Amino acid sequence: MNVSIVGTGYVGLVSGTCFADLGVNVTCVDCDSQKINRLVYGAIPIYEPGLDNMITRNVTDKRLTFSSDYKQGFIDKDFVFCAVDTTPDENGLTNLDPILDIAKDFGNNINHYSVFVIKSTVPVGTAQHVTKIIRETLDARGAKDMKFDVASNPDFLTEGNGIKDFMKPDRIVIGTETTTARQAMERLYRTILMHNNRNVIYTDTRTAEMIKYAATSMLATRVSFMNEIANLCEIVGADINVVRHGVGTDSRIGPKYIFPGCGYGGTLFPQDINDLIKIGGEHNYDMEILKAVENVNNRQKRILFKKLFNHYKGDLKGKTIALWGLSFKPETDDMSSAPAIDTINLLMEAGCHVRVYDPVAMNATKRRWSSVYCGLDMYDAVKGADAVLLLTEWRQFRIPAWQTVKSLMRSPVIIDGRNVYDIDELEELGFTYYCIGK
Ligand SMILES: NC(=O)c1ccc[n+]([C@@H]2O[C@H](COP(=O)([O-])OP(=O)(O)OC[C@H]3O[C@@H](n4cnc5c(N)ncnc54)[C@H](O)[C@@H]3O)[C@@H](O)[C@H]2O)c1
Repeated sequence: MNVSIVGTGYVGLVSGTCFADLGVNVTCVDCDSQKINRLVYGAIPIYEPGLDNMITRNVTDKRLTFSSDYKQGFIDKDFVFCAVDTTPDENGLTNLDPILDIAKDFGNNINHYSVFVIKSTVPVGTAQHVTKIIRETLDARGAKDMKFDVASNPDFLTEGNGIKDFMKPDRIVIGTETTTARQAMERLYRTILMHNNRNVIYTDTRTAEMIKYAATSMLATRVSFMNEIANLCEIVGADINVVRHGVGTDSRIGPKYIFPGCGYGGTLFPQDINDLIKIGGEHNYDMEILKAVENVNNRQKRILFKKLFNHYKGDLKGKTIALWGLSFKPETDDMSSAPAIDTINLLMEAGCHVRVYDPVAMNATKRRWSSVYCGLDMYDAVKGADAVLLLTEWRQFRIPAWQTVKSLMRSPVIIDGRNVYDIDELEELGFTYYCIGK
C-alpha cells in the first residue's frame, strides 16, 4: 500500500512514521523544503518522545521517505493524507487555501483510484467542498473517468503522546461518502483496528468533521470549568485538590482534564474553539458556552501574574522573576498560546527581570524575547529571584532540591501554576507558597 502524507508537522510526521512502522510505504511531503532536507539528513524538526528512533528504523528499512518533489506525493498513491496546518487568516478564519491547493494538485496528478484523506481539522462541509474541487480539476484535465474519494479522518493526537495515540487510539473516526472509500480506509487501518475494532466510528464526512471540534471543545470546557471552580474555592475557602478528587471519582465524570491550572494553550484548543464559535456564527447560532470557555481561559493565563502582583502589592518594578516551564504542556517544545507567553509579557511590562528554564522550549524563547535570561538549568534560572513561577509540570520540576532553590533566591516565594507542590513542606522550609484554588 502506498501512502503519502502532505504536511510533515506534528500530525503528518507522527502519522506517516507510524503507518510506515505498520508496514505501509510512506512518502512525507512538505512545502518547507528545508524541513524536508533536514529530515533526509536525520534531523527531526519536532520533539516527540520515541519518534526519532522510529523514523531512523523505517528510513533504514526504506518504508519511509521524505520528499519536497510535490508530484511524488500523488503519483502511484493509494491514499493522500492532508495534514497541513490550517492557521487562521488575519480575520481569524480557518485558512483552507493550502488544503484546496493540495486538492487541485491531487486532481492534476493522480494516475489511479486514490483516497484524499483530510486529517487536518477543518470546518464542517470541507470534505464535500474538496470533492467538488477535485472533480472539477479532473474534468479540466480531461480525466473525467478517473475515480477518487474524499475521506475525513480527524486526528486526536496529543503532542508528547503522539505515537501511543496513533498506535492505541481511543477511537478512529472515519467519515466517508462511499462504500469503496470506507472499505479502503478499513484496509489501511486494519492492523490498528484488529485491536481496536470496537472503537472505530464510521460515519459521513460532515459528522466526522464535527466530532473533532466537539471533542476538543468538550476537553477545553472541562479545563475552564474546573479553573472557574478553583478560583471560587480560593474565595470561599475550599480546597480545589480535594474538590477535584471528589468530582473526578464520579464514574460519570472521570478524572481527566479536570486539573486546575494557569490555563490551556497549544494550537489545538484555542483554534478549534474559535473555529466552532465562527461556524456557529455563520449559521446565526451563538456558541455561548464556548465563548465563556475562551474568556475564562484568557483570564486564567494571567492568574500567576495576578498572584505575584498581589504578593508584592503592585511593586514589581526591578524584581527578578523566574519561570519554570515554557511549553504549553510537558513533553513538547510547542509554546503556541502557552500561558508562559502572557506571563512573560506581563512581567516585562511591569518592569521585571525575567529568568526562565524549560527542558526543550528554550530556543523559541530566545528568538522571541532577547532580554529574557535563559537559564542553563532550573537552578541557574532561580538565581537572585524574588519569586519562582511554575508554568509547565515537567517531571524534572516535581521534586526540586528546595534548600538549594531557597539559597539561590533573593525572596523565597513559589507560585505554583499546576498545583504540584506540597504546601506544608514548602511552608515548613520557609517558603511563601501560592497555588491555584486553595
Ligand atoms: N498538533 C496537534 O496536536 C494536532 C492534533 C490534532 C489535530 N491537529 C490538526 O492537524 C493539522 C496539522 O497540525 P500540525 O500540528 O501537524 O501542524 P504543523 O504546523 O506542525 O505542521 C503542518 C505542516 O504542513 C506544512 N504545510 C503547510 N502548507 C502546506 C502545503 N500547501 N503543502 C505542503 N505542506 C504544507 C507546513 O510546512 C508544516 O510542516 C491542523 O489542522 C491541526 O489543527 C493537530
